[in-house]
Amino acid sequence: MEEQTHESQHPDDDHQEVQITIRNLWKIYGKDPRRVFQNTALLAKSKDEIQSETGCIIGMRDINLEIKKGEFYILMGLSGSGKSTLIRALIRLIKTTRGSIVINGEDITKMNADELMQFRRKTFGMVFQHYGLLPHLSVLDNAAYGLKVKGVGKEERYKKAKEVLETVGLTGWEDYYPTNLSGGMQQRVGLARALANDPEILLMDEPFSGLDPLIRRQMQDELVELQSKMQKTIIFVTHDLHEALKLGDQIAIMRNGEVVQVGAPEDIVTNPADEYVEEFVQDASPAKVLTAGSIMGDVPLITYSWEGPKTALTLMRKEKRKAGFVVNQKREFLGVVTSKELERLIAEEPGLKKIPHQSILEVESVTEEVLVEELFPIAVRANFAIPVIDDKRRLLGRITADQIFESLTMAEGGAS
Ligand SMILES: Nc1ncnc2c1ncn2[C@@H]1O[C@H](COP(=O)(O)OP(=O)(O)O)[C@@H](O)[C@H]1O
Ligand SMILES: [Mg+2]
Repeated sequence: MEEQTHESQHPDDDHQEVQITIRNLWKIYGKDPRRVFQNTALLAKSKDEIQSETGCIIGMRDINLEIKKGEFYILMGLSGSGKSTLIRALIRLIKTTRGSIVINGEDITKMNADELMQFRRKTFGMVFQHYGLLPHLSVLDNAAYGLKVKGVGKEERYKKAKEVLETVGLTGWEDYYPTNLSGGMQQRVGLARALANDPEILLMDEPFSGLDPLIRRQMQDELVELQSKMQKTIIFVTHDLHEALKLGDQIAIMRNGEVVQVGAPEDIVTNPADEYVEEFVQDASPAKVLTAGSIMGDVPLITYSWEGPKTALTLMRKEKRKAGFVVNQKREFLGVVTSKELERLIAEEPGLKKIPHQSILEVESVTEEVLVEELFPIAVRANFAIPVIDDKRRLLGRITADQIFESLTMAEGGAS
């Protein structure tokens, strides 16, 4: 992980700058938590032991994390593992006991009350599980609430609030009150309120946990789409694995106040760090995690569009294949040509110098980040392997039905 951070100073890679650095962060709830630190033998004990001996509760234990700008960062773990403590510590709704939290180069644990208030307002937006809407205010006033607190004038804050309500799909609902709205819609208002501030960092503590599964999935989809436009740093708490896998760029798994593993969804599912993580990922279907790019193979035979049919057929026969993927000079994928079609061309239209456009069959292609789950229906429809292309349509590899099924069984073996 460290190495990657240093190496990838790519000009077109805007996800690499570390925005939040957490070092040796502790939170101990209870009276006089410092006395726990003075006793190193005690400090080495488990959360339960520390609690029964001192009455102090370990909320966070020696947490070290780096969160990059624009990253969708998930905190996952069982109830009581310290997720809310950590997310609240980031905005200093709770005072931490030890360690540092550096955000945009400033250690927020060292700020005074005024500095902190300024910093919070300019940097953060927060969305809670129970929406936190004010029942006596309209949807518009709820969305504008953060701006009002900031002292923004009525006209300007309503203008901004209307914009963000549109972003979350609530245009037309401005004059309604929260109680008239479904849970999903209330949470949209919560999100609009957080976005109205145009925060750099969005903190979301189990925002979709109260919603029924269908609405929840819809909200997740919308958040994914929104984030692809916003590119904000999002720290998102959940205890739902599929939600974490679907949304997260990085996932930190917490237990008893500690971070036990950090990784991309694929790392977590294929290489769980210990039994606790393994239990979490057991019900994860690899099809929801593995991507086309990670399972694709080399293309065994590439047919060049500028070759004549005879050359193409000769090469195809040599490789004992019945069809080939056709690319142009830019390696852009054009489609598939079959040996049968080449034979027909040679017989019926001798003297062709190139494979004509009409002889190339269009086939469905996918990009690298497409999930294996989404490949199933394509594989069922397809008569050939599925081509994998980049955003410029250049051919990267191919996926056969066998590769799909193999990848699923391999991943299962790896995770057990
Ligand atoms: N205000 C508090 N006072 C004492 N203990 C607390 C307080 N808030 C949280 N805790 C304890 O800290 C631990 C972590 O809690 P929390 O961060 O809320 O976990 P999560 O959000 O993962 O469910 C739990 O053991 C919880 O009981
Ligand atoms: Mg919580």
